[in-house]
Amino acid sequence: MLDSTAPIGIFDSGIGGMTVARAVTKLLPKENTIYFGDTAHLPYGDKSTAAIQAYSIKICNVLLQQNCKLILIACNSASAAAYELAREYVGSKARVINVIDPVVDYIKERYEGKTVGLIGTKQTVLSNVYKKKIDALNRAILLKSLATPLLAPMIEEGFVDNTISESIIARYLSDPELQGIESLILGCTHYPLIKKQIRQYYGDAVEILDTSEIVAQSLRAWLEQHYLINTKGEGKRDFYVSDYTQSFEMSTQLFFGKQITLSHYPLWE
Ligand code: DGL
Repeated sequence: MLDSTAPIGIFDSGIGGMTVARAVTKLLPKENTIYFGDTAHLPYGDKSTAAIQAYSIKICNVLLQQNCKLILIACNSASAAAYELAREYVGSKARVINVIDPVVDYIKERYEGKTVGLIGTKQTVLSNVYKKKIDALNRAILLKSLATPLLAPMIEEGFVDNTISESIIARYLSDPELQGIESLILGCTHYPLIKKQIRQYYGDAVEILDTSEIVAQSLRAWLEQHYLINTKGEGKRDFYVSDYTQSFEMSTQLFFGKQITLSHYPLWE
């Protein structure tokens, strides 16, 4: 039996997943959350499936030790590579949620017979996880996907609203693979930060799906359905990283909206 007052664990390859953590804490301000950023191993987007699985299980252990009622895999690459394994590993000790299924559910209701685009890391796109899940819906939804590996490092360097970012974004979005789409899934933790630029590129022609918001809504719905909303919580927020640098701490502002204190928690000791 899970405890409603237990914290929600959220993990990502680094601090980008704070876009998801931010959406969750905005929607559920009383929940206590524990964020784990695997900064020692980022980026996950170029790593092998086996490596991401090993890191993810290690992090699940950390979050289980903290008695989390729910573990949210906030990273698209880890959701693609390690969700099934993590869910099996965690078993009944906590619920595991990924950032892909809520988006697939959202698309299922709204995009029957339509064409949907996806941008993300190489791991997310080349794993074909979105495609397999969307095809399994049997709703005649055509997915057109493109790996856009330059976008995450570009955003981390603060290039979100200048001529350089504008031309990189335009270069990717004008790729023949993405033509004819009616909505675009932002399949990476970092992309909510360039949502405005992507929206400017398309105008109103394409719906931009901010996965962090969709995931936060789905997480709240699940907690409600299972009577696991923490009504007595104080909204305590803990942030851990597997490798600490001051520059990571400064960059938290980009992703969480305000600068926060990171605690160092080495993974392999
Ligand atoms: N968090 C990753 C994702 O959402 C992006 C950064 C990385 O490659 O680690 O796919």
